[in-house]
Amino acid sequence: MSDNWVWDETLFAGAAPYYGRGRLPYAPALVQVLADELGLDGTGRLLDVGCGPGTLAVPLAHLFGEVVGVDPDAGMIGEAARRAADAGVAARSRWVRIRAEDLPADLGTFTAAAFAQSFHWMDRDLVAATVRGMLRPGGALVHVSDLKGEQFGVEGLPHPGVPYGAIGELVKEYLGPVRRAGRGVLPNGTRGGEAEIIARAGFLGPERHVVPGGQVLERGENDVVAWTFSLSSSAPGLFGPRRAAFEADLRTLLRSSSPTGRFCERGPSTEVFVWRTPSGAGAAPG
Ligand SMILES: C[S@@+](CC[C@H](N)C(=O)[O-])C[C@H]1O[C@@H](n2cnc3c(N)ncnc32)[C@H](O)[C@@H]1O
Repeated sequence: MSDNWVWDETLFAGAAPYYGRGRLPYAPALVQVLADELGLDGTGRLLDVGCGPGTLAVPLAHLFGEVVGVDPDAGMIGEAARRAADAGVAARSRWVRIRAEDLPADLGTFTAAAFAQSFHWMDRDLVAATVRGMLRPGGALVHVSDLKGEQFGVEGLPHPGVPYGAIGELVKEYLGPVRRAGRGVLPNGTRGGEAEIIARAGFLGPERHVVPGGQVLERGENDVVAWTFSLSSSAPGLFGPRRAAFEADLRTLLRSSSPTGRFCERGPSTEVFVWRTPSGAGAAPG
């Protein structure tokens, strides 16, 4: 990330209603892998930091006594609460609109904390240290993301692939050549290197798991529009009064790629790193 990028509250402005529909799902076996690796049994507490619309915490909620999702975006918190209610897990979930930097916020002690494609947006040293202090000894920090560098073809599938390159070019026509992020820009994309930071905060590990994707996904024009608006780099708020014009051009582009408005692609694999707080002597206060 460029050194002078500064977080602001518009980062995902307007993206929340599109997020659940637009983003590609995590690998189908992710919840089972986490249940096995963390020994989840319907007790314990999960802190999901940068929870978005509850993508991870909602399907995990039945495996904990309580899940607490935190996110600074009001739309995301609202979506998470709605999806938890739809999934029948409202009673064991809580959604708190704060930045990770405002933790611990009297939220108590947790058995596990998750960062699913969110850690790179935070003051990472501060947040890793704070979360370590919120986990009980032997607790788990789980870092989840789409596996990078994976390439699946769409040969043999019934519909064309999503024209991601052309969508990116259209976004640039509207928002400029440099990747946008809130009120700032990220010329070098988002940051990596989280392992050093998590280790520096005193976590042990990690154990790495790749949960396989590759399942065929059929996507409609509206799903791809939602995907585009779910991204921080093309969140609706960035387009201002040109938002409707952008959406019209995007739909024209999609129809020119697939006159039926149907697309196929394969789901990404999910990369999971499980870190632990030391158990016993040297443990952070629980
Ligand atoms: C790419 S989304 C991931 C959402 C969800 N965890 C998932 O896996 O789908 C990133 C989320 O991080 C949130 N976020 C950004 N900066 C944050 C911060 N400083 N503290 C907490 N959450 C933050 C955003 O509002 C957004 O909901």
